[in-house]
Amino acid sequence: MSKFEDQILRAIEGRHPLIYLHTPEEDRVAACLESLVSRCFPGGSLTSWSCVRGLEPPAEGLDTRDPAAALRHLIEHPRRGFCLLKDLSAFMNDPKVVRSLREAYFAFCRDYRSSLVLVSPVAALPEALEKELCYIELEPPSSEELAVRVAAVEKLFPGKELAPALRSQVLLALRGLTLMEADHVMQRVFSTGAAGDKVLEGIFSAKGSLAKRAGYLEFVPLRHDTSVVGGLENVKEWAEKRKGLFNHDAIKAGLPVPKGVLIMGVSGCGKSLLAKAIAGLWQVPLFRLNMSLVFSGLYGSPETAFHNALHTIEAVAPVVLWIDEMEASLSTPKEAASPQSMVFSSFLTWMQEKPPLIFVAATANRIEMLPAEIVRKGRFDQVFFCDLPTDAERAEILKIHLDRNGADLKDFDLKFLIYCTKEWSGAEIEQAVISARVEARQAGRRMTMQDIEKQTDRMVPLSKTMAEQVKAIRDWAYNRATPASRSS
Ligand SMILES: Nc1ncnc2c1ncn2[C@@H]1O[C@H](COP(=O)(O)OP(=O)(O)O)[C@@H](O)[C@H]1O
Ligand SMILES: [Mg+2]
Repeated sequence: MSKFEDQILRAIEGRHPLIYLHTPEEDRVAACLESLVSRCFPGGSLTSWSCVRGLEPPAEGLDTRDPAAALRHLIEHPRRGFCLLKDLSAFMNDPKVVRSLREAYFAFCRDYRSSLVLVSPVAALPEALEKELCYIELEPPSSEELAVRVAAVEKLFPGKELAPALRSQVLLALRGLTLMEADHVMQRVFSTGAAGDKVLEGIFSAKGSLAKRAGYLEFVPLRHDTSVVGGLENVKEWAEKRKGLFNHDAIKAGLPVPKGVLIMGVSGCGKSLLAKAIAGLWQVPLFRLNMSLVFSGLYGSPETAFHNALHTIEAVAPVVLWIDEMEASLSTPKEAASPQSMVFSSFLTWMQEKPPLIFVAATANRIEMLPAEIVRKGRFDQVFFCDLPTDAERAEILKIHLDRNGADLKDFDLKFLIYCTKEWSGAEIEQAVISARVEARQAGRRMTMQDIEKQTDRMVPLSKTMAEQVKAIRDWAYNRATPASRSS
């Protein structure tokens, strides 16, 4: 039995005559009630009502499109079983409807033969009926339910069946979508003839457009995995070890599912890059929460916008939720009741209670500006510190960016370049390589060692211009955070 069915069964066991199901999935509710009705009400059946069609099966000689008239009819002529009331939540501001529901409640409590099931994509419970309505927020479809739907779509595209390994990734990626949404996504994926990773990409971008409805959540396509990160071995190894732990099988097996990392450190040393790379390595969709939009007021109060953002994220889990440069919006406020501190404390609470398949990748440049509770044990699995890259790390970073910019590595003296870029960040190294390439191109030739050397002569790294800040970050990290790099 699905959790969905189980939730409804429990309401029936409690003899609730009025059930309010908060879900956008009307068709799934109908199928579920149909399969449960003979078990809950032996000999009973499923009736439905909508404001366009009235009661079905119809009440003879009576127009039941008016909600109060339909309810009156159901009270006077009770039908054994469930009655699925499709649009009723839109009529909750009508006193006649509220009154009729209350009467139905008392009538069916006395003689429990039927249950009225209201289904609504929004949770709009009338206050007057709070005590009478049994409110259930339905879980999104399980992997098993999704598997059935995927198999049904697959049948429509013979010869394009998913390989078993891809199938389990697809089912994981679909989690959080409704059955209809999963159906549409899979139809589209199959009909475009996508294969392999493209299938997952199609699903992730469908999730992306769902989250877009809440503008402050931005879907970030997975372009990289950890192979594009030079050095920072401790974080890469940490993520690699947990690659198989971020899924439902791990939860079922009682394994510790990763909750989140906080990556702090010197600007340009790969913190944001790591957040993206972890999602890429695990093949889990990545969403960036734009905190400045949360605080902008465009989406209601910051608390409401933030709460809605977390809710949306829960609906599309499994996901990696990326909160970049956390201190920019959540730094320690002067007054205790500021929106920042309210949002920050609800974030901390949520971190401890959030559903398991949401991994939070947070980054911060100036972590000392954040309230100290952030690093308390139990919230993030690990706090990593990205320092300026070591010699060996700069060699790797140089290789990655030279290669990306079409250079032939054997024309470059890495040892010398490592020396020229001492105390440089990864971002600065990348910038030097790109500028060198641009200059060489302008001169109509291939990039050479000398082009890069010229850039390194010209540029003054952040570690010099902001030496004090870099020192402050290092001092904070000492004893508080795990080095992202392996000691050389
Ligand atoms: N360790 C690294 N390996 C490869 N590239 C790096 C590394 N660190 C930084 N970069 C390059 O610099 C860019 C900016 O780095 P980013 O991750 O945004 O820095 P941060 O978030 O720490 O300020 C990256 O997109 C990447 O191209
Ligand atoms: Mg960054």
